[in-house]
Amino acid sequence: MDLQDIVSFCKRRGFIYPSSEIYGGLPGVYDYGPYGIELKNNVAAAWWKHVVHNNPDVVGIDSGIFMHPMTWKASGHLDNFDDAQMDCKKCKARIRADIMLEKYGVNADKFTVDEINQTVQKLREDKVQIKCPECGSTELTEARRFNLMVKSNLGSPTEAITDENVVYARAETCQGIYLNYKNILNSTRQKVPFGIAQIGKAFRNEIVVKQFIFRTREFEQMEMQYFVHPDDAGKVFERWRQARWDWYVEFGIDPSHMRWYEHQKLAHYASAAFDIEYDFQALGGFREVEGLHMRGDWDLSQHQKFSKEKLEYFDPVRNINFIPNVVETSAGLNRGSLVFMHEALKEEQLPNDSKRTVLKIDPRLAPVKIAVFPLLANKPALIELAEKVFRSLNKKHHCEFDDNGNIGKRYRRQDEIGTPYCVTVDFSSTGEQAENAGTVTIRNRDTMQQDRVGLDQLDQWFADKLPVL
Ligand code: GAP
Repeated sequence: MDLQDIVSFCKRRGFIYPSSEIYGGLPGVYDYGPYGIELKNNVAAAWWKHVVHNNPDVVGIDSGIFMHPMTWKASGHLDNFDDAQMDCKKCKARIRADIMLEKYGVNADKFTVDEINQTVQKLREDKVQIKCPECGSTELTEARRFNLMVKSNLGSPTEAITDENVVYARAETCQGIYLNYKNILNSTRQKVPFGIAQIGKAFRNEIVVKQFIFRTREFEQMEMQYFVHPDDAGKVFERWRQARWDWYVEFGIDPSHMRWYEHQKLAHYASAAFDIEYDFQALGGFREVEGLHMRGDWDLSQHQKFSKEKLEYFDPVRNINFIPNVVETSAGLNRGSLVFMHEALKEEQLPNDSKRTVLKIDPRLAPVKIAVFPLLANKPALIELAEKVFRSLNKKHHCEFDDNGNIGKRYRRQDEIGTPYCVTVDFSSTGEQAENAGTVTIRNRDTMQQDRVGLDQLDQWFADKLPVL
């Protein structure tokens, strides 16, 4: 499927809608519908289980989106967190210079503005025409720095943003982790080495946002920062690289659709950086879904310097004070949800010459686990029993009741949203038909096979078949 098919599917089936659509939309922001939020919550829960609950040496937090503005001076984001922007003099399009240069075979991912301008000049000298990707004009401005931090003001009687009232919507969730590192040490039994994890919103004033939920201005990150003695950082980094790769595979991503990308040019905070990239065919190829970074002692040292608060750790075994190194795993929740959806969404040809769209997603991530149908919508006895089955199964698994349209259409609807099992209550279930009395049919999303299972066996059958996180 191409990107437009996925975008239309997500809107039609209640996964994802453009923000503020009745006002013409707000670029770079998306809303999640009933199935989208279930999928996203399940991805977040799978990550939390894997990173926090499965590791006694990792704890979670939920810090504020706004932090003291000095946080961003110390972290380097106010000075260094920018992209190079060029403008088209003709159509006024804003162009992200590194993305544009990709088309000319240049990987300018981590180029400075000066390097971008030199590269453009060199290409022009080589008679390469650098064109606006929107209108094709060659009249482009020089590249200039464009800081990605989103600014606002808080608690001020004036509307203007001034140095006194400025606050920044966080650009990465991990800064809230560094500011709480000392609180965790003082209020829990954790000792270095240990990790702190957080899932939450981040905001970036991205120059170009044309790739659906892959790159947005408001998004969610799932980040874990592991604090470790510098001598052990390399080993810990390798352990988390393997663990994070395995997580995607465990939840259904074919390993041949992923690869590692090692950054040569590093962000201002990193001494080593590897991305897990996923082969987003709909976006034209491999793209980053998660970054793993060796951040050294950059963040804690900077916060110690700017806050004047001691952030050293006393190691009773080594009998020394030191600033821990940080190993970071940083995944996008929206991007990750898109990965799982992209991998699982299939168009299948059926034997009777029809087609079905099916989301063959891991049942643990599926928005709905079981759909319950009465065979016919106009038979009170069937509806009554189906509602009873629904109420009973819904206590343990997120279920949906559907009596709309014929049974084939209901199966197609559930296939599209990825429901692993459909239970149909028919005349055998109510006992009106002697054959198979007291049983229902359970239809499997992937094989489309149907089993008959006794009403009194349903709880156990699903306990055996439906994996939980
Ligand atoms: N704390 C490190 C950090 O923020 P990053 O590579 O800038 O590193 C980590 O971001 C992850 O966050 C990315 O791999 C991606 O999944 C997600 N992400 C970053 N910018 C995003 C955006 N504009 N829209 C959606 N997801 C984004």
